[in-house]
Amino acid sequence: MISRFFFHLLGLWRRTHTRKFLEVLKYLEIKLLKKHASTYCYHTPSHVLIELTTRCNLRCKWCNQANPEWQKKYGHKDMAFADFERIIVQLKGANRLLLYNIGEPLLYKRIFDAIKLAKQYIPEVRLTSNGLLLTADVAKKLQQAGLDMLHISIDSPDPVYMQKIRGADLKKIEENIRIFGETCDIPIEIWVVVSEETLETLKQLPAWASQFKAIKRIRFQLQKGMHSVEITGFNPLASLEVYQAFQRHIDRECKQLGIASNIYELPFYPRGYHQRQAKGICQAPFTQLVSISVRGQINPCCTYGTCDLGNVFELGFKGAWNGDQMRAWRNDMLHQRYCEYCSNWCGYKQHDTSAKGKSVQTVIMPNQGR
Ligand SMILES: C[S@@+](CC[C@H](N)C(=O)[O-])C[C@H]1O[C@@H](n2cnc3c(N)ncnc32)[C@H](O)[C@@H]1O
Ligand code: SF4
Ligand code: SF4
Repeated sequence: MISRFFFHLLGLWRRTHTRKFLEVLKYLEIKLLKKHASTYCYHTPSHVLIELTTRCNLRCKWCNQANPEWQKKYGHKDMAFADFERIIVQLKGANRLLLYNIGEPLLYKRIFDAIKLAKQYIPEVRLTSNGLLLTADVAKKLQQAGLDMLHISIDSPDPVYMQKIRGADLKKIEENIRIFGETCDIPIEIWVVVSEETLETLKQLPAWASQFKAIKRIRFQLQKGMHSVEITGFNPLASLEVYQAFQRHIDRECKQLGIASNIYELPFYPRGYHQRQAKGICQAPFTQLVSISVRGQINPCCTYGTCDLGNVFELGFKGAWNGDQMRAWRNDMLHQRYCEYCSNWCGYKQHDTSAKGKSVQTVIMPNQGR
């Protein structure tokens, strides 16, 4: 039995590259040793998200961009290309780079150079855009630079809701998607935030998407409490049957139309929704994804867009990835000391902050320290 296990590990070592092998070892270490596992990671994370700019040409209702305080403080910063150049080399070993966070990446002056450079070190590079700046010329340059997939955010196939939520002209975006599909063969994934108000209209989304040959997948997202707005996020606890019927409808439609979707993977477990409470240790800050803000601050996962766990410009990527703050965060994960955000977003039971034990999460909360 044991020899078969090691034989399997050896096979894995041969078949996959070193990062994957070390990631599997880390996974096993956490599974077996639990809170006694080391907080040190020998591998780069599989996915890295980089925010090249915080500038944006829209002010979508539920985005930080629409928050005047956030806007005044953070809304006009670009990452220096020299800083990007320094960091990207150090990310060799990651599988996927995602270029976005709170901002419109197509506004970044050297976006094509950034993609081209990133492709030398990371096999897959993707970008998330609001779709307004796509032209035939941009499509050609994105293809030449080597972009593997473009994500476009659409919050409803109904132009009235697109105007209400994003302040965007859906017709213009539709035209851009059509031109994009005619000019290059980069696949498109539609990103859509689900809300109570748009739910009915979202039932038409697969049919809407099927008009465009470039759209291959729809990725539904649930609203994070980044900025409070009059449009309500979706709460499956309050309307579970409606939600499940929606899931079935989307799944059926997507299958019929040949479009992939994540409808059965939505990571939404609101506080109190105990039937779906997540258990155990969150692996994300050990293995999966890390995000780097425009100021070089490292965050443990994509949901902590504005949490500061060390600066890659000062410490280098490896220094920050295994820096004191990142390791303290992992220590919290190993001891299952989850903060309110981990509870709301991923369904982990919130740590009792009055309990003894030092917790980095009680000190660093999201939306601070940018
Ligand atoms: C912040 S945007 C940045 C990239 C680009 N500007 C865009 O809109 O696609 C990245 C994604 O986050 C989504 N988003 C914005 N605010 C959100 C919120 N409060 N909760 C969940 N997703 C949100 C957007 O709809 C978009 O799909
Ligand atoms: S969601 Fe994207 S397009 Fe909308 S305001 Fe935020 S960064 Fe800009
Ligand atoms: S929000 Fe917390 S629990 Fe969820 S992926 Fe990030 S670190 Fe893990």
